Amino acid sequence: MRMYDIIKKKRDGGELSAEEINFFIRGVTDGSIPDYQISALLMAVYFRDMTVRETSDLTFAIRDSGARLDFSAIHGVRVDKHSTGGVGDKTSLVVAPIVASFGVKVAKMSGRGLGHTGGTVDKLESIPGFRTTLSEEDFIRQVNEIGLAIVGQSKQFAPADKKLYALRDVTATVDSMPLIASSIMGKKLAADDDCIVLDVKTGSGSFMKSVEDSKKLAGLMVDIGKRAGKKMVALITNMDRPLGHAIGNALEVVEAVETLRGNGPEDFTGVCLTLASYMLSLAGMGTPDEARTLAQRAIEDGSALEKLKQTVAAQGGDANCIAHPETFQKAKYAHAVVSGEEGYIGKVNTEAYGLAALALGAGRNRVEDAIDPGAGILLEKKTGDFVRKGETLATLYSDRPATFAEAEKILRAATTIEATMPEDEPLVYDIIA
Ligand code: URA
Repeated sequence: MRMYDIIKKKRDGGELSAEEINFFIRGVTDGSIPDYQISALLMAVYFRDMTVRETSDLTFAIRDSGARLDFSAIHGVRVDKHSTGGVGDKTSLVVAPIVASFGVKVAKMSGRGLGHTGGTVDKLESIPGFRTTLSEEDFIRQVNEIGLAIVGQSKQFAPADKKLYALRDVTATVDSMPLIASSIMGKKLAADDDCIVLDVKTGSGSFMKSVEDSKKLAGLMVDIGKRAGKKMVALITNMDRPLGHAIGNALEVVEAVETLRGNGPEDFTGVCLTLASYMLSLAGMGTPDEARTLAQRAIEDGSALEKLKQTVAAQGGDANCIAHPETFQKAKYAHAVVSGEEGYIGKVNTEAYGLAALALGAGRNRVEDAIDPGAGILLEKKTGDFVRKGETLATLYSDRPATFAEAEKILRAATTIEATMPEDEPLVYDIIA
């Protein structure tokens, strides 16, 4: 088999066989296919698309490119949740403890932020002492003992995706439906969960900008997960505005803790309750409506917050930060962005909000970049809010005050102020089961 023929077949609109896809992924993993040929095939897939069968085969090949986790030693139903990536998306920090507080097991492998999107691992590492690396044995023991562990993804896990993602990132082939679906599901299926809830973001802060494309992507991933024997649900949720008010690692942990205390922003709390209710429902805890009542109760009676504290303590983190979030490490400098006009906040470019936080030090441009845990943005005004001239739109935080000017410029360009109130948009557009 020759890589040249595989590229040519896809370039001309052909359907690749399972053998050809396996040959490709084997060559990506062992380094025998050069980057230029991998990139050429990625571009051919970008333009020619893949059938559901090809996308499934690509997903399974990515899953099998490295080690697979064995969770059979975990007692009870194992549920995971995965977001396609957004801005201010700290839902895992809230939904995982809610779900685990009912004895459902959450053995979570999370990612780091890249580009404009944040990552759960970076957020957790803003808690002093928190370890996001555990041995497989400790990971499983912790899940059995307290129901929840959250770690970063190990290097042996779906290595083909790591290589493909790095090349997609520099060849303008990230936003391809079969490539996104196989990348996400290849990693998800390498873990050993019974049920998976996907949070497919849609809008200006996500990879899929239209609801229609997001539904298609969600349907594809649900289909692939079911073929692999998983119970699957996908929610299409709004990323045309940041979730909650906080963007940036420590700021988001504080907002997540406030949400578990019952004081969270309405939009963020709503999305968390919906995700948690589908996770609990898939795990056999009743209908989504019944499970939502349970999830709400876990916030009201403090059991979900207690679960987060236990998890932080078990992974070496300072649980005092969770009990007293006001003691959390803060950035050295703050800067208010003030409105120059009066009106309603209209549509915002959410991706640009993520990039403004990145400019402040909350994210990284390259994988090896260091993060400033206290850096980020607290939004005072969001889409639909009324603002007067001179009022604060947002407060920027950074240890590097020289970054304020650029972040402010990005934020202003990404925000519209209008004479009339914009139409309300749903938080959850659809649920695909
Ligand atoms: N997240 C992933 O893991 N892969 C993608 O392709 C997009 C988002």
